[in-house]
Amino acid sequence: MVPSPDFRFRPATSADLPLLAAALLANLNAVRPTVTANTLETDPRFRHYVADFAGPHDFGVVAETPTGEPLGVAWARLSTHSDPAPGYLGDDTPEVLITVFEGQRGLGIGYELLIEIEKLAIGRGFTRLSLWVEDGNRSRRLYERRGYRPAEGAIDTRTMVKKL
Ligand SMILES: CC(C)(COP(=O)(O)OP(=O)(O)OC[C@H]1O[C@@H](n2cnc3c(N)ncnc32)[C@H](O)[C@@H]1OP(=O)(O)O)[C@@H](O)C(=O)NCCC(=O)NCCS
Repeated sequence: MVPSPDFRFRPATSADLPLLAAALLANLNAVRPTVTANTLETDPRFRHYVADFAGPHDFGVVAETPTGEPLGVAWARLSTHSDPAPGYLGDDTPEVLITVFEGQRGLGIGYELLIEIEKLAIGRGFTRLSLWVEDGNRSRRLYERRGYRPAEGAIDTRTMVKKL
């Protein structure tokens, strides 16, 4: 796959919270419209995936143009057995979210973002990553290409896992 000609990576920080909110909105509406910008912050997934980013266990990477225009983002968070996010697989397994913004998709940026977030996870000592993908979302093919597989024992059957 040929990557978009000009992009670079930088770490995602707390200043990227609005970017993560926009990314989550795109993801939640990827298969069919479910959430609006007005209702996003009341959705429990906002609390799980975006609120208070970046805490000590959060990490992420932004793909941007040389002039700093964001093209996409991948980030990861832990949730707990007592308050699991949809793709929860264990207290030691961060769940990855990934979004490439409209107009930039299908150019290889998502694939490269997955490589970067996996490197960050390995650097932090994690041994696996999970992600949650809705039925009918063709991004599943991308995850399979990066070695993600259906996760056995997940709370939700749409959870995938990759051993790092
Ligand atoms: C999924 C996504 C992050 C992939 O990033 P990308 O840069 O488009 O992906 P790449 O170019 O590296 O790889 C291409 C693969 O991405 C996926 N993809 C490409 N366009 C897509 C789109 N509009 N929606 C969903 N998946 C898409 C497909 O799996 C594609 O593989 P295929 O050509 O064999 O179908 C990006 O398309 C996106 O943000 N889509 C909308 C939101 C979404 O579905 N997020 C994932 C929620 S689990």
